[in-house]
Amino acid sequence: MSRSAHPAGPRHADVLPEGHYSAPPADLNALDPKVWAQTVSRDEDGALTVGGIPVTRLAEEFGTPAYVLDETDFRARARAWRSAFGNDADVFYAGKAFLSRAVVRWLDEEGLNLDVCSGGELATALSAGMPADRIAFHGNNKSVAEIRRAVGAGVGRIVLDSFQEIVRVAHIAQSLGTRQRVQIRVTVGVEAHTHEFIATAHEDQKFGIPLAGGQAAEAVRRALQLDGLEVIGIHSHIGSQIFDMSGFEVAAHRVVGLLKDIRDEHGVELPEIDLGGGLGIAYTSDDDPREPHEIAKALTEIVARECEAARLSTPRLSVEPGRAIVGPTAFTVYEVGTIKPLDGLRTYVSVDGGMSDNIRTALYDADYSVALVSRRSEAEPMLSRVVGKHCESGDIVVRDAFLPGDLAPGDLIAVPATGAYCRSMASNYNHVLRPPVVAVADGEARVIVRRETEDDLLRLDVG
Ligand code: LLP
Repeated sequence: MSRSAHPAGPRHADVLPEGHYSAPPADLNALDPKVWAQTVSRDEDGALTVGGIPVTRLAEEFGTPAYVLDETDFRARARAWRSAFGNDADVFYAGKAFLSRAVVRWLDEEGLNLDVCSGGELATALSAGMPADRIAFHGNNKSVAEIRRAVGAGVGRIVLDSFQEIVRVAHIAQSLGTRQRVQIRVTVGVEAHTHEFIATAHEDQKFGIPLAGGQAAEAVRRALQLDGLEVIGIHSHIGSQIFDMSGFEVAAHRVVGLLKDIRDEHGVELPEIDLGGGLGIAYTSDDDPREPHEIAKALTEIVARECEAARLSTPRLSVEPGRAIVGPTAFTVYEVGTIKPLDGLRTYVSVDGGMSDNIRTALYDADYSVALVSRRSEAEPMLSRVVGKHCESGDIVVRDAFLPGDLAPGDLIAVPATGAYCRSMASNYNHVLRPPVVAVADGEARVIVRRETEDDLLRLDVG
């Protein structure tokens, strides 16, 4: 396989068209610990290793593309969130970021709770043995069957998202002879500084019940009257991939304002408040996320301060991080295929996956990093766009990044920080098969979600 530089194309830093990038990094072989999982490093041969295993061996054994998840890192992050919030608060991992039975077991062992938002996620959680009372069930349009299953299983809380659902859940709980613990999700009217599709607290969207116009207060009024419900608190989730804590501050202020109104009107102090998830992670070296202990300190202080001002006893706080726990723990490893240098533009590097294993670039214009991981290279940086194998020009995995100019077909490259919302949003577009998730820890690798096969695809096609 040739390692020589390509004959044409913008390999050098002096030919830089417009794009989503800053200057090429000083050393293309460096692996920024901000974006790579904790146990990642390079071995003496220059290949990336994770959990003590060279990525070349993982690719040989499990094929490419593959999501490689660092279990040690996952557990460490879960534990860091848990201990940062302490015993007076609850951490619910948001399963939508990535859920599998192994993950459920790790969460259970590390003392975290779990947020699910569909019957499928609930089934996964229950089948892996997560105690139902540590599960929260979310969603703006839960079906009657899903609600019945959740109430019947005894989930710890259902987060109510509409006036209709208040009545529906109460009715189902009563028919099952139980009283369901619920929170009411409110939209606090905050503009979170994130992509429009992942902001959720402004009023003009589908989630929650607006505080504005007294709607949330009316929802609480109705819920408190229903025998099938035990209203335990108020829930707010302002969006995702957020770095700035000021949105949480406004949300906490408004939620506590509602708790105060509830106390004044009904003489009840609701015992819980959930501020949702949404904390950002580093996808590139330009991102600067906060540590769990800083977030915990900030949120706990905000809630305590607001409650003191409202002369309320401080409710039990819960949070729902998804991306911040699993996002940085995994990378996707791809094999390089076609390489096309386009003069004066950039070099298109095609990989054996694409928008079916990572839709986030196409959908949210997300930025990612990428590195050559099967070897070290001292070649000049080459401005590259990593694209997939799908029949669509928007099939971009990494919009702009520098790879070494001697990149060749057969090399392995990896995209870090793909643990969240990549496998969970993967599709079969073009009947491309979804990659496996391989968990590594202490020199051992095991498949926790296997690669899809053509048989899997054809099994669903009953025509
Ligand atoms: N809680 C609730 C009620 C949520 O709706 C979400 C995310 C979370 C917690 C977890 O948010 P996280 O900590 O993971 O940011 N597919 C998008 C993200 C959608 C988030 C949906 N809800 C993406 O790839 O960026």
